[in-house]
Amino acid sequence: MIDTLKFTLNRKPLQLKVDGERRLLWVLRSDLGLTGTKYGCGEGICGACTVLINQKASRSCQIPVKDIQGKEIITIEGLAENGRLHPIQKAFIDRDALQCGFCTPGMILNAYSLLLEKPRPTDAEIIRAMNDNLCRSGAHVRIIQAIQTAAQGMRGGRKR
Ligand code: FES
Repeated sequence: MIDTLKFTLNRKPLQLKVDGERRLLWVLRSDLGLTGTKYGCGEGICGACTVLINQKASRSCQIPVKDIQGKEIITIEGLAENGRLHPIQKAFIDRDALQCGFCTPGMILNAYSLLLEKPRPTDAEIIRAMNDNLCRSGAHVRIIQAIQTAAQGMRGGRKR
């Protein structure tokens, strides 16, 4: 069934006619060209498809697009503002917290959600929060360092 959905995507209001049963991941990637949201497992296990829905990290491969009616969606393309990288994006680059980069958009958005909830996370809290975002390149130690660096940056000013 075709639904008319209204929501905010990367801070811009959007109206879309779409089959509401389709997964948000495929609407973002195929219909809207936002390919920073990655397809990994398609089963809610890897975290590659993570986006923010009302500021919470969410697995877009598991969400029927009809469920985003009236909500605020942020993808990795929407995190930088006015040409300035978000502190988490900058920290991942500065700390070299990636190798192939496939998992990185999901990692960054999950870290964002964590740092909104816990501005001063311990390493153990970061490990627990990031446990279900899989990285096959073994960058975990640098990812934890990057999130700690980003936490300092976000406490010092820019949150969103
Ligand atoms: S593609 Fe959604 S969790 Fe893996």
